[in-house]
Amino acid sequence: MDTQVLDCSAAGIAKAAEIVRAGGLVAFPTETVYGLGANALSAQAVARIFEAKGRPRFDPIIVHVAGPKEAEPLWAEVPPLARALMARFWPGPLTLVLPKSGLIPEIVTAGLPTVAVRMPDHPMALALIREAGCPIAAPSANRFGRPSPTHHDHVLDYLAGRIEAVLACGPTPVGIESTVVSLVETPPRVLRPGGTPLEALREVVGELRVDPPRVSQGAAPAPGTLPRHYVPQIPLFLLEPGPPEGREKLPRRRCGILAFRGEWHDFGRVEVLSQSGDLREAAANFFAALHELDRAGLSAIVAEPVPEEGLGVAIMDRLRRAASGRARLDDEFVWIVR
Ligand code: TXA
Ligand code: MG
Repeated sequence: MDTQVLDCSAAGIAKAAEIVRAGGLVAFPTETVYGLGANALSAQAVARIFEAKGRPRFDPIIVHVAGPKEAEPLWAEVPPLARALMARFWPGPLTLVLPKSGLIPEIVTAGLPTVAVRMPDHPMALALIREAGCPIAAPSANRFGRPSPTHHDHVLDYLAGRIEAVLACGPTPVGIESTVVSLVETPPRVLRPGGTPLEALREVVGELRVDPPRVSQGAAPAPGTLPRHYVPQIPLFLLEPGPPEGREKLPRRRCGILAFRGEWHDFGRVEVLSQSGDLREAAANFFAALHELDRAGLSAIVAEPVPEEGLGVAIMDRLRRAASGRARLDDEFVWIVR
């Protein structure tokens, strides 16, 4: 199949909407990352998302709507807290999980009794949903387990030939996926930290349950929170302090550094997320920097931790799950600790 590259224009939206209505797949920008969209009310269309992504059927998909009014019929019940969260954070990177209504096919939710819904804060995404005339089911538009796409070029790298079209709208502004919150439990539980900071959520929710970062392998407590995810093609190691020692060492020149800020020397490639130490800027640059390092012909990536506040919580969540171990540095070498 030839993947059409559609202009970021009214004509592009019209064509994309036509494809969605006909049961096809269109990748489109949201404020977080590009989504791989299909008509959420069509089980057949959604089945094609799983095929194109190579996504296991047990991992449920977020449904994208144009506003709270469109969200409500998709849920069996809408508690006051959901209304308050929608009023405060929509449109924006917050996904709410509640018991589903009968409108949503089982395949969207991987058989779960709940459905995750969000209203993206991107004019092209909203125009597409409105013009298609249906809610749009969309996971991130990467191959399963790989880093998310924050530019249409990333989408084409992953999915050219597997989907009908991509709306080519350049980089996405937030750069990290939505925060996913389950309102099925009391207090509400954060299933995935993301573009809406936990500090902001707490202002509305009060108490919030957040599971500690998971590093070990094993069964996920909730679908999609798999410990290994966002994995680049070359190994990524989280930088830790400590004397240079380890089971193996690589010359710095063979490695790339994914740095939060600062000056770095002797690495094969340096990507600095935010020279001024701004976590929003760091999130916006995060996946593009990871893609660059992954494609630079290096042996490994060393990632510097970022402060775990604001969007830094979401960045560290992605880094921990991308990492296959830890590394220490001396002037010449990267030491792989484990
Ligand atoms: O920002 C985003 O959320 C992007 C853009 C495209 O909207 N989408 C995205 O989708 O990141 P995906 O499929 O890559 O991640 C969705 C996450 C997964 O961890 C999935 O398991 C979880 O949401 N999820 C979806 N439905 C759920 C449900 N009913 N219960 C629990 N978790 C759910
Ligand atoms: Mg994803």
